[in-house]
Amino acid sequence: MESFSSIKDIKNKISQWKSEGYSIGFVPTMGYLHEGHTSLIQRAKKDNDKVIVSIFVNPTQFGPNEDLDNYPRDLERDTELCTANGGDVIFTPSAKEMYGDNPCAYVDIKELSQELCGASRPGHFRGVCTVVLKLFNIITPDRAYFGEKDAQQLAIIKKMVLDLNLPVEIIGCPIVREADGLAKSSRNTYLSNEQRKAAVVLSQSLALAKTSLENGERDANKIISIINEKISSEPLAKVDYIQVVDLKSLKTVNSITDDILVAIAVHFDKTRLIDNFSFQIKK
Ligand code: PAF
Repeated sequence: MESFSSIKDIKNKISQWKSEGYSIGFVPTMGYLHEGHTSLIQRAKKDNDKVIVSIFVNPTQFGPNEDLDNYPRDLERDTELCTANGGDVIFTPSAKEMYGDNPCAYVDIKELSQELCGASRPGHFRGVCTVVLKLFNIITPDRAYFGEKDAQQLAIIKKMVLDLNLPVEIIGCPIVREADGLAKSSRNTYLSNEQRKAAVVLSQSLALAKTSLENGERDANKIISIINEKISSEPLAKVDYIQVVDLKSLKTVNSITDDILVAIAVHFDKTRLIDNFSFQIKK
């Protein structure tokens, strides 16, 4: 496994691969990899000749009250996981390497960033889009892979690629879950044992909502109530949001007539977890 932290060096490697005709798959991450990430690396390896994994805890997507310094990091373990799952190269730039001294240009995807996580994390998606565009410009991948757990991030990146005519195919990959249903996330490591047990309420509440939709419920407020009731039964859980939105526009819907995303964010003390599912309306 080769590892590069300089933009110049990784670009040289990529030029060499491109001159040899290799296709390149890219998995952007903030490290502390889990099975959600490794599923992306495996998929990228299936679709491409070479796979690059970036590990960069991006400061611009953290808000002032979010703990950038304490974000979990373990480069040695990440390197082993990348190697074991088909990664060819790791890119680990420093913040100075990525942003220089006085960055002035940003990417803002206004509309899709207002709802869901955007409402409680102002500026977050501006940071995500900016770093992802920079990484795309450096790596020039044929395909890039993102998890469906971050459904809003995936929708926003697809829109950025469309609006800015970026020559990369965006591939969304399914949520990977623990045995009890909790969606895999680097943030799960922040949970105490008690909180970890309680966190199963996220996937359980979504399962109840899904059953209700499958049984024909089309009132978004009823779906929200079902989820709210289940989460409220767990004393350690505090709802940040429960939303039913249009799958493409991410706008809130009242009556469900088209494909939707049901998305939730729940606090366990300082740890905020998200989960979601999409539901297709048969036409
Ligand atoms: O999903 C993440 O881990 C990050 O938001 C990403 C896409 C790597 C950008 O920093």
